[in-house]
Amino acid sequence: MVWTSRPVKTLKGAIRAPGDKSCSHRALIMGGLAEGTSQFSGLLEGEDVLRTGWAMEALGADVKQLGGGKWQVTGVGRKGLSQPDKVLDFGNSGTGSRLIMGVVCGYPITVEMTGDASLRSRPMNRILTPLRLMRGLDTAGPDGRLPFSMVGTDDLRAITYSPPQASAQVKSAIMLAGLAASGTTVVEEAKPTRDHTERMLRGFGAKVDVARLDSGVMRISVEGGQTLSALDAAIPGDPSSAAFLVAAGILSPEGDVIVEGVMSNPTRSGFFDVANLMGAHLGAEEAGDAAGERLINLHAGAAALKGKAVPERLVPSMIDEFPILAVLAAFAEGETIVTGAEELRVKESDRIGATVAMLRANGVEAEERPDGFAVQGCAGKVPGGGLVQTHHDHRIAMSALIMGTAAQNPVSVDDISMIATSYPDFLSHMTELGADISEG
Ligand code: S3P
Repeated sequence: MVWTSRPVKTLKGAIRAPGDKSCSHRALIMGGLAEGTSQFSGLLEGEDVLRTGWAMEALGADVKQLGGGKWQVTGVGRKGLSQPDKVLDFGNSGTGSRLIMGVVCGYPITVEMTGDASLRSRPMNRILTPLRLMRGLDTAGPDGRLPFSMVGTDDLRAITYSPPQASAQVKSAIMLAGLAASGTTVVEEAKPTRDHTERMLRGFGAKVDVARLDSGVMRISVEGGQTLSALDAAIPGDPSSAAFLVAAGILSPEGDVIVEGVMSNPTRSGFFDVANLMGAHLGAEEAGDAAGERLINLHAGAAALKGKAVPERLVPSMIDEFPILAVLAAFAEGETIVTGAEELRVKESDRIGATVAMLRANGVEAEERPDGFAVQGCAGKVPGGGLVQTHHDHRIAMSALIMGTAAQNPVSVDDISMIATSYPDFLSHMTELGADISEG
């Protein structure tokens, strides 16, 4: 179903950021493993996270949605996970499926897993290779694509592993498997990625050691045999969802947008840093903390942007924000270049191809590179008028709709249903700010 975003002069207002997707998955997974009953507030109730809740329930946890973002999870604790009596369908969710592969491989159960067409096309060998080294087995074919079964064991062995990709999902799957392994599991990351698993495991009472080596490598160690204890926590606001609202405020001719309660974590803040480099002058004020994370209120007003080369060291900390960064780049003056971001090829879509096509469909000159893209900015005057193919990718859909709020002509997308995987309130939040987005 086609939806269209029409240009508006003013986007103005204050919106509370939805709960962070990465933290919401981890809260349900760790709550489901813990001894005792955990309570969470502000949990993201997007489809991806709901599927993680169902999966943990199928594995023996008691997961209750109390309403209004409040959840109660009674974990399996020392009893351990039980054999599910159905296939675990993770829908669109790379995070849920990959983290749970790590979780289940330390228990003597066989777990059938699948997902939607996008998830079934995404590479899983990056997870299966280290888990096999730990002695977890699976029925995946050589291409390592879902559907397959994880065949767990109660004889998992610790490993020391350096993932070839900068991936928090790979790191987290290994760490979660490491909880059930004998010995100390170590992950060495050449490029640091989001550290929510490390932080949240500590919140659940586990001991996790993190050291930055002289080489810059992050060394994360977790000892096997630890039992997690229940946790009561508020989930911090999602910087990746906030990025769309912030971009809307920057691009709107009379933009004045505040996003409240955004998690301020250096492993997630790259987009805001680059927006400031481009001339956004974002305001940030302290807003307390949640689940061991600092919170800020972000203020984004209309700004004229300049194209930049995105520093490669910031790529992992903004890995989900490149489609919306490309929209900022389209409105900037001059060229924006992204390199070192080859991981974008294996997200919910090939995000390099989909992002470049989104811009071109709207009259913006953009070029694919193997590991990124280049955009020739239109100095505020993006033609628009295009129909964007989302390839079932929520971040492409939201980025295109933000582009439409400030382009010369409306911007349409072929589908919006998948936005519910990560940001179910996106349309109502945008409408509250004054956007004109409707079906047709
Ligand atoms: C995530 C890690 C990132 C990110 C994804 C969420 C996580 O994926 O793109 O949206 O919660 O660990 P990779 O690990 O593939 O980089």
